[in-house]
Amino acid sequence: MTDLEAARAAAEKRGIGHYDRHIFLCIGPDCCTPEEGDRAWGQLKKAAARLNGSPDRGRLYRTKVGCLRICESGPTAVVYPEGTWYGCLSPENLERVINEHLANGQEVQDLVIGRNPLP
Ligand code: FES
Repeated sequence: MTDLEAARAAAEKRGIGHYDRHIFLCIGPDCCTPEEGDRAWGQLKKAAARLNGSPDRGRLYRTKVGCLRICESGPTAVVYPEGTWYGCLSPENLERVINEHLANGQEVQDLVIGRNPLP
């Protein structure tokens, strides 16, 4: 198996091509403390497992990142395909994004810090 074939097999194993949304979550250290980032990541992982186990909900892919270049009032995240950027993702606020946007496709407008839908 070539390197590219191995990478394709890994992508297929991860379900690439079957996701409805992708969230990139910054776990700090500049927009939030590493502890806040780790807590948010743990919360998101549990939510993704729950949502992806539900056949009537869109499938979610999650990625943690080291910086989204906002570096203010995080944790910070961006959700695609909408290109919705969120800030101040305390546990309570992240739960709202999970339940309203990731599970049901409704932007949480009061937590939006920017929008950049990709064409
Ligand atoms: S450290 Fe989170 S946006 Fe820069």
